[in-house]
Amino acid sequence: MLNIAVFASGRGSNFEALHRAIEEQNIPAQIAVVISNNSAAGALSLARSLGIPALHLSQRHYPDPAAFHQAVLQTLVRYAADLIVLAGYMKKMDAEIVRAFPQRIINIHPALLPKFGGEGMYGMHVHTAVIAAGEKESGASVHYVDEEYDRGAVIAQQRVPVLPDDTPETLSARVLTAEHQLLPSVVKNIAQNHRP
Ligand code: GRF
Repeated sequence: MLNIAVFASGRGSNFEALHRAIEEQNIPAQIAVVISNNSAAGALSLARSLGIPALHLSQRHYPDPAAFHQAVLQTLVRYAADLIVLAGYMKKMDAEIVRAFPQRIINIHPALLPKFGGEGMYGMHVHTAVIAAGEKESGASVHYVDEEYDRGAVIAQQRVPVLPDDTPETLSARVLTAEHQLLPSVVKNIAQNHRP
């Protein structure tokens, strides 16, 4: 059984899609804890309504960055996390945590990396840039997390067309549908190959 810690800062639709897929597809995994830096994150209320431990861990409570990272690490140890899934987490993962979980942190990004990634490329900025560049295709990428933004090796991608009359919003909705399929399929693969 693969123990997953999900980090999310926002609404949590990828967390929800992953949770549903685990149940419906009997994926040998469980979401052990959801962690957010944002107390108002939809992901936290969703987790609570599903009976999943939901923790608000914010740098505001830990003025010292090292203490904050220690608190995150201790939480991951307490919940025996095998895999960390970043699903719309708006903070950079600390290098110490990245080193403690080699090849065990994955992120979902709403574009076809290595294009349209990196600092500042999040949310609607990504879709606006894709349309402005005249791309005919976009999609979702799941990649390993290393110490740079959106730079770790890509594990899998799912493509969607960019339509001539797309707005960032319509494109975002199409990519999100792809994200909701891609993330569970990658986690399923990891879970099926997981040897405790
Ligand atoms: C997704 O578009 C994901 O690719 C990006 O942040 C968004 C999170 O959406 N990293 P949600 O909170 O899972 O609905």
